[in-house]
Amino acid sequence: MVPSAPDMRHEFWDERWRQGQIGFHLGRPHDWLVDAADRFPPQARVYVPLCGKTVDLVWLRDRGHEVFGCEFVAGAVRDFLREQGLTAATERRQAGGGAPFECHRTRGLSVLQGDALELDPGLIGGPVDVVFDRAALVALDPACRNRYVDGLHRLLRPGGHVLLIAFAYDQTRVEGPPWSVDATTIERLFGDRFFIETLAVRAEEGNPRFQAAGVAEMEERCCWLTRRD
Ligand SMILES: C[S@@+](CC[C@H](N)C(=O)[O-])C[C@H]1O[C@@H](n2cnc3c(N)ncnc32)[C@H](O)[C@@H]1O
Repeated sequence: MVPSAPDMRHEFWDERWRQGQIGFHLGRPHDWLVDAADRFPPQARVYVPLCGKTVDLVWLRDRGHEVFGCEFVAGAVRDFLREQGLTAATERRQAGGGAPFECHRTRGLSVLQGDALELDPGLIGGPVDVVFDRAALVALDPACRNRYVDGLHRLLRPGGHVLLIAFAYDQTRVEGPPWSVDATTIERLFGDRFFIETLAVRAEEGNPRFQAAGVAEMEERCCWLTRRD
């Protein structure tokens, strides 16, 4: 279980990265990102929250977008830069009296190391056109969800989009992360401020911990959300 106090949340993920428990990492662009890529406006400003070391960052940058990732585990950011052969200029950024971020900037791609729940549009030069959330909302303690969605709404320009990839399963059997986020939860969290279009749904095998708890299958869902105003 992920504790909800900020330091403990960080410790939990730090430990997972240290132990190499990163079964979520794909090493190739997510197929649903590839399928939906033509929906992104050309040369969009794209934000990837809770990015880990996903290669989606580089894939999006190579399509001509200006990409911003956010990840709070320093080792994950280091691995990302090393594995992608990127040399970054690093600076400390802070908006107002907000939390500090270490910003690692290369051409067309910046990774901000810090707590995504604290990210302010002022730290990335203004609002973005698209948020790509794969395994980000589901990684957050349910108590943080409303704050996270408020933050995404603030970071997006009106009419901007979220490409959301989430998992749902029987939450009574086992605790997250990933936490179960089903269609009803997506509607409850986003429905009043976003139009919701479901692009794809499929069954996935649960990870070994989930299978041991009797969760044989998870439902993976891809939605295209559009900010209403
Ligand atoms: C399930 S992984 C998903 C990573 C990535 N989206 C992917 O598809 O490979 C969640 C990541 O979010 C990071 N994380 C969790 N809470 C965070 C927070 N509040 N701010 C920034 N990063 C966070 C974790 O360290 C982890 O790397």
